[in-house]
Amino acid sequence: MSEATLAISTVPPPPQLETGQRILIIDDEAAIRESLETLLSLEGYAVEMATTGEEGLGRIEHNTYDLVLLDLALPGKNGLEILQLIRETEPALPVIMITAYGKVDNIVEAMRMGAQNFVQKPWDNEKLLADIRSSIGRYHAEEENLQLKRALKQRYNFSNIVGKSEAMLHIFDLVAQVAPTRSTVLIQGESGTGKELIAKALHANSGRKDKPFVPVNTGAMPTDLLESTLFGHVKGAFTSAVSGKKGLFEVANYGTLFLDEIGTMGMETQAKILRVLQDRRFMQLGGTQEIQVDVRIIAATNVDLKQAVREGKFREDLYYRLNVIAIDLPPLRSRREDIPLLAAHFLRHYAHENNLADRTLAPDALRALVDYDWPGNVRELENVIERGVVLSSSPVIGSDLLPGHLTGRNYSTSLLEHNPNASLFDILEDFERRIIMEKLERCNWNQTEAAEHFRIPLSTLNQKIKRLNIEIKKRVKE
Ligand SMILES: Nc1ncnc2c1ncn2[C@@H]1O[C@H](COP(=O)(O)OP(=O)(O)OP(=O)(O)O)[C@@H](O)[C@H]1O
Ligand SMILES: [Mg+2]
Repeated sequence: MSEATLAISTVPPPPQLETGQRILIIDDEAAIRESLETLLSLEGYAVEMATTGEEGLGRIEHNTYDLVLLDLALPGKNGLEILQLIRETEPALPVIMITAYGKVDNIVEAMRMGAQNFVQKPWDNEKLLADIRSSIGRYHAEEENLQLKRALKQRYNFSNIVGKSEAMLHIFDLVAQVAPTRSTVLIQGESGTGKELIAKALHANSGRKDKPFVPVNTGAMPTDLLESTLFGHVKGAFTSAVSGKKGLFEVANYGTLFLDEIGTMGMETQAKILRVLQDRRFMQLGGTQEIQVDVRIIAATNVDLKQAVREGKFREDLYYRLNVIAIDLPPLRSRREDIPLLAAHFLRHYAHENNLADRTLAPDALRALVDYDWPGNVRELENVIERGVVLSSSPVIGSDLLPGHLTGRNYSTSLLEHNPNASLFDILEDFERRIIMEKLERCNWNQTEAAEHFRIPLSTLNQKIKRLNIEIKKRVKE
């Protein structure tokens, strides 16, 4: 027992901690290398050494280090040149320069080029170790942050929101960042761009996720009904109020209230909403007591609210209250790189939902999807894919299973194909007929809406429908 104790005490003490961190020393002076090596090994660092800058660069290229100690005065390429070359491949790797006493100009230059720090010979061990620890600590923190961001981006899918365009990746970051807060969020974007999906993702990634997410379409209701829906009413508040009823602000307590289509809400309701946003208090219709709630508000609109403010249709103060955090969803046509990814997502989803084997798109079909302008945005793409999946009998969906207006199959050429002698007038008329039919189909045979899209009076559209012998189909219930 005593022998063993004796034997152990003669062995140099083991490193206090195995940091597992690797440091490369680049110095041509053996004495400097050795004393640094001893100092650092005793601290638990794994140390490697190079005697020239070129050798050091080779090592950096093939290994990972946590820090480099680099001598300024090296044979061959000098320390500054080597530092520059390190920066080209490893912009964040911490480098501490070793200099002879008093070379101030070089120090300034080295710091300007991104050296983390410098040591002057002879150095103070404790100070050097402290500098090394803090440089490595900072480096790892930055790397970790970068890794996290990269991991988030590489998922290309955040709470079922699919996208890889810069715009969507930025939105993922934003959603991740603001979801846990109670900040009011205003989501703007054309119809079908995914506003409700984002609202749900904000809720699902917040501390409120186990509480209700309550959507309400504020644009679709007459003012009275909307107000009693939002605020509730007491018994007898109006003739048909035979009993009291909680409003959605109360239903959503501790959760999230999603005010959809907020752009078309009436002025009176806007004033009341503004009050709730200010102090989270309101009164039921006919009520006398204020009710306090803890509700997060997310609003969405597909009209340009700023424009609505200018036109006096939307209260400016409410606009600023809602617009604390703005998420603008770009139309699909301005982020076409998302189309293949979204298509694959919906292919998987609808094949699975219909108990079908996996489906893929033929190259020409994918081309057509990427080239199309998607006025109905992601919702339209989703419908097209669902249709393709259901109609296809083979695993590969060809362009023949896409609606004609996507592939241009219907356009202009068709009449020429059948009748090479067709007059220009006939060709144009055929073209006009197809475009109008396609628009009507898209607007669910609502002529007023189609005329608005074409920016022509309804009467003009109706004349054309008559002249072109277009048969108006029945509107399908949505
Ligand atoms: N980035 C996306 N990834 C996956 N699915 C998406 C994406 N964007 C939209 N969708 C899907 O498209 C459809 C339409 O989205 P959503 O209802 O959120 O759009 P919206 O902007 O609220 O449309 P509207 O203005 O017409 O109400 C939904 O089925 C939604 O799941
Ligand atoms: Mg919506």
